[in-house]
Amino acid sequence: MLELRKFVAPEFVFGPGASTLIGRYLANFGAGKVLIVTDPGIIAAGWTEKISDLINKEGIDCAVFSGVSANPRSAEVMAGAEFYHENRCDIIVAVGGGSTMDCAKGIGIVTTNQKHILSFEGIDRVPIPGPPLICIPTTAGTSADVSQFAIITDEEQGVKIAIISKTTVPDVALIDSKTTMTMSHYLTACTGMDALVHAIEAYVSTANSPIYDLHALEAIRLVSANILPVLIDPDNINLRNKVMMGSLQAGLAFSNASLGAVHAMAHSLGGLHDLQHGECNAILLEHVIAYNFRVAADRYIKIGEALNLDLKNCRTEDAKDMVVSEIRRLKRSLGIQKTLGEIGLKRADIPALALKAMKDPCMVTNPRVPTERDIEVIYEEAL
Ligand SMILES: [Fe+2]
Repeated sequence: MLELRKFVAPEFVFGPGASTLIGRYLANFGAGKVLIVTDPGIIAAGWTEKISDLINKEGIDCAVFSGVSANPRSAEVMAGAEFYHENRCDIIVAVGGGSTMDCAKGIGIVTTNQKHILSFEGIDRVPIPGPPLICIPTTAGTSADVSQFAIITDEEQGVKIAIISKTTVPDVALIDSKTTMTMSHYLTACTGMDALVHAIEAYVSTANSPIYDLHALEAIRLVSANILPVLIDPDNINLRNKVMMGSLQAGLAFSNASLGAVHAMAHSLGGLHDLQHGECNAILLEHVIAYNFRVAADRYIKIGEALNLDLKNCRTEDAKDMVVSEIRRLKRSLGIQKTLGEIGLKRADIPALALKAMKDPCMVTNPRVPTERDIEVIYEEAL
């Protein structure tokens, strides 16, 4: 049966030096005053100043909001929206990783809708789009710069909420692989694994389509082949470019096809323990693949082939073992060695985490429909 599928993506410019176009884009938007949303790490790396200088050179004023932490909290979004109004801004530029871009998306929709950020939780719950938003990503993994997703922490409940809406797609993404060269070794590894998980979950999503598949498979090839080389040779711009392209293609796939159990479970974990998103995904991935494999075996075999495995004439059970061990080998080769227990998860936390993960919108498109007990068992296996 033919099903309807749409493809949503922003205008983007890809390549080394893309971020230097910021002034021209802001002038085209008729910007009066820019809110730059960024974080202390990106300021320390010098990227915020580079971008604000380019904006000032265009004769445009800007105000910098840097109160964004990893796993951005709802209070930070609300404070950013207040700051936007106080400074009479009319456009937003996000310079940073996924947390920064998600916070900027949140600030935008709060300023126009005049409602608390947590009230937009779910799919298509944002009535009015925010002001224009230009994203300059500084990590190669999150793809918030092209996606319809914003993930915000509800600090009181200790959960992450997902806002999925076309209104959170940025107007322009300036995707400049040079900005990823200041990432630490471990952040490069974790964000790379996040991109790989985006591509894999999009490819096996129940909302997949031939257009998303193209991007997902290419992302799996690019990220898996280049993520270890980039860690060995972090100043190699060609390798950085390939991983950034993989992340972009994964973003185009998952923004449209949505995700699955790995993200649902990682959101739940990240809300409770404030853990690194990519690290949680990397730890969970092999266990979720083992759980899902039999209901989407043909698709996982294609994923295995994109990972450069020879699965011809393999029995399904053998193909499953080979894909799962390849994911484990790749993760470990990148230095991601810990289990969920070693990063702070306790067995007693699992029932509450599983309950939250079951309610996450990403779980809806997981190829195998899990019970709450199934999700508890996956957490236990990863403990
Ligand atoms: Fe992710």
